[in-house]
Amino acid sequence: MANRGGKPNVLFLLPPGWDALSKALFGHEAFNSFLQGKDHYAPQQIDYFVGFRPPHGFLKGLPRLKAIFSLGAGVDGFLRDPEFPRHLPVVRFVDETLQREMAQYVTMHSLIIHRQQRAFDAAQMECAWRQRMLAKPSRDVRIGILGMGDIGAVTAERLLMFDFQVFGWSRSRKAVKGVTSFAGAKELPQFLSHCDIMVCLLPLTPETEGILNAKLFEGLPKGAWVMNVGRGGHCREEDLIAALDSGHLAGAVLDVFQTEPLPADHPLWTHPKVTVTPHIAGITDPRNAAAFVVDCVARAEGGEPFRNLVDLSRGY
Ligand code: NDP
Ligand code: OXD
Repeated sequence: MANRGGKPNVLFLLPPGWDALSKALFGHEAFNSFLQGKDHYAPQQIDYFVGFRPPHGFLKGLPRLKAIFSLGAGVDGFLRDPEFPRHLPVVRFVDETLQREMAQYVTMHSLIIHRQQRAFDAAQMECAWRQRMLAKPSRDVRIGILGMGDIGAVTAERLLMFDFQVFGWSRSRKAVKGVTSFAGAKELPQFLSHCDIMVCLLPLTPETEGILNAKLFEGLPKGAWVMNVGRGGHCREEDLIAALDSGHLAGAVLDVFQTEPLPADHPLWTHPKVTVTPHIAGITDPRNAAAFVVDCVARAEGGEPFRNLVDLSRGY
């Protein structure tokens, strides 16, 4: 396989169900596209790679690779590969639609928790007219966001629109209107003490792996909720179950898991205090992803700097 018409060769390894993206990009005038598993391609002639969680060692087998474009905002699926070619630039998908979808998920579940909708659903199953007082108005409910990056900032904005009190924790201090910012490991305990609902929107890195553990749960007020939309690797699931069973935590909303798909016999599926969703909090929009790939290839070929380059030393 040569560079047909002098065009660069782009290899796609797409998660199942991503046909819309491949349709939007195949036959693109600016590059030759090859779909891993379907097309015949020569690994030594691939210039760019597009994907989400390639198998370990896969990228090492593409010796001419010049850059990697991640279809997700999180790039842990690449960096956990022990043979990952760390000399290459990695560009991640930073997209307003994705940020808004994520913010919508967090806001919807915060409202369900706050409005005690689960109790009303249960009462309806019994045809019971069970009026309940809300514990407090939303202006008295404190939501803490772990990870005040691109998605965290939009999420904070949306939560403020519903009058929640919003607190944020990140590596560096943030100036987001209406949000009380905490920064660094030293300020984590203080941040936690302010969370009626704690939302994890961190990237998965060696520093944040397992951060949602027994010690962190102890630092939350009794009756707090935990929402994990970051990565399954953030959460020690056995510690979470213990904190729910002891009554310290009131409930958990989980979109991501240590093992995905969540095994059918996993106790989280049936835990009465847990809501499970299958990693759908933010879905990458294929049209925006197609525009992202086109932009990345054009920048690479035109010698222009990439936007949203991952800092490999930080891991995000
Ligand atoms: P960003 O890189 O924009 O933001 C990451 C935030 O986490 C930053 O505020 C950063 O702090 C903070 N952070 C990172 N490491 C630490 C640390 N050790 N201590 C304290 N704060 C830290 O990421 P995005 O907002 O774009 O995405 C966040 C994550 O959301 C993704 O990595 C992915 O895992 C997850 N995600 C999940 C989806 C789903 O469907 N469930 C969909 C999309 C994303 P600072 O700003 O100071 O650097
Ligand atoms: C992402 C995801 O990182 O979908 O974008 O999980």
